[in-house]
Amino acid sequence: MFHMKNNPSALFKKIKNLSFIALLFLMVNCADQKPPLPETKEVSLKESFADNFLIGAAVNDALISLKDSLGANLIKKEYNTITPENSMKWMYMEPQQGVFEFETADRYIDFSTKNNIAFIGHNLVWHSQLAEWVEKITSAEELNASLKNHVQTIAARYTGKIHGWDVVNEALNEDGTLRNSLFLEKLGPDYLVNSFKWAEEADPKAELYYNDYNMTHVEKRKGAIELVKMLQKEGVKIDGIGMQAHWGLEDPTLEQIETSILAYADLGIKVMMTELDITVLPNPWDLEGAEVSQNFEGSEQMNPYSDQLPDSVATQLAKRYKDIFELFVKHSDKISRVTFWGINDGHSWLNNWPIEKRTNYPLLFDRSYQPKAAYHSVLEIKQDSTH
Ligand code: XIL
Repeated sequence: MFHMKNNPSALFKKIKNLSFIALLFLMVNCADQKPPLPETKEVSLKESFADNFLIGAAVNDALISLKDSLGANLIKKEYNTITPENSMKWMYMEPQQGVFEFETADRYIDFSTKNNIAFIGHNLVWHSQLAEWVEKITSAEELNASLKNHVQTIAARYTGKIHGWDVVNEALNEDGTLRNSLFLEKLGPDYLVNSFKWAEEADPKAELYYNDYNMTHVEKRKGAIELVKMLQKEGVKIDGIGMQAHWGLEDPTLEQIETSILAYADLGIKVMMTELDITVLPNPWDLEGAEVSQNFEGSEQMNPYSDQLPDSVATQLAKRYKDIFELFVKHSDKISRVTFWGINDGHSWLNNWPIEKRTNYPLLFDRSYQPKAAYHSVLEIKQDSTH
């Protein structure tokens, strides 16, 4: 047997064992103390604009059927309000007369309630995506009764759980006159007053809105203002006006947007951007707005960025988003919500409207849910203002 003093290799082994034990000790004790996170200047959209307005997105059913966990996580992180893109429209909610399908809407409401997200019901009365049976009704009495039943049944079911309802969607023509929908034709302008009245009776706490596109156009704006004044004169509750905000890189101008925000706010109601997206694709028919029934044949020329968006256009989009958000912030005492019509570019309706199967880039997140330059440029506004 050798004495350690005389055996350097045994001494070395002992030291090695001791340092191993010390290392283990350190690892166990430091496990809870996470290294500090790298400093990041960016916070989420909803946090950045918390003092200004709610920030939302339109969502589709993949979100609540758990088929889109990336989307669901992004919603929880970035947004504090959602609007279902399609599934609460008449054709889905009451596909047969008096037969209501609540399952999907119930799941949206559950998701929102659990995650403390303000839920916007879209919509109660609209001439598009209407159920076929409604279009076949010939008598005014029957149509009136069906409208009343539709509005009251749905609004009553979600009493207390809905932040706001798009009660009536797109009731105006471009010249500001009332659109000759089935409802106007058979029931006259009373259908507008009654729809708001029935919605209020069924859910007195929900905010009630009128929602439309091209709300920056002079004639249409006049029409919308008249419509709101008419409702106010009739003594029915209307809390806000929704500017859908399906816009382009240059149209409408910031000035037109600002004039409109001010004009609607003058009515004493809230102003909302309810379906914001910015198309980057050509539009040779000078088509503006969002008339969903207009659809055209495509061509390669009409789909110039099918592989990827050139940097120059991405930068232009980022600048456009920054400009309009600066304007929104300037008027945030009047604007209560800004909702994007979708989360990621790949799911945007603008890939299929007004021309089918194109590749558009209208939102803040790309097809893999990665934030785009436009996302960063919007957040920069708040960083700039705090530095
Ligand atoms: C669109 C949806 O995004 C599409 O998926 C659907 O095919 C047609 O409707 N104005 C509105 C929205 O109020 O409901 C529309 O949504 C877009 C225009």
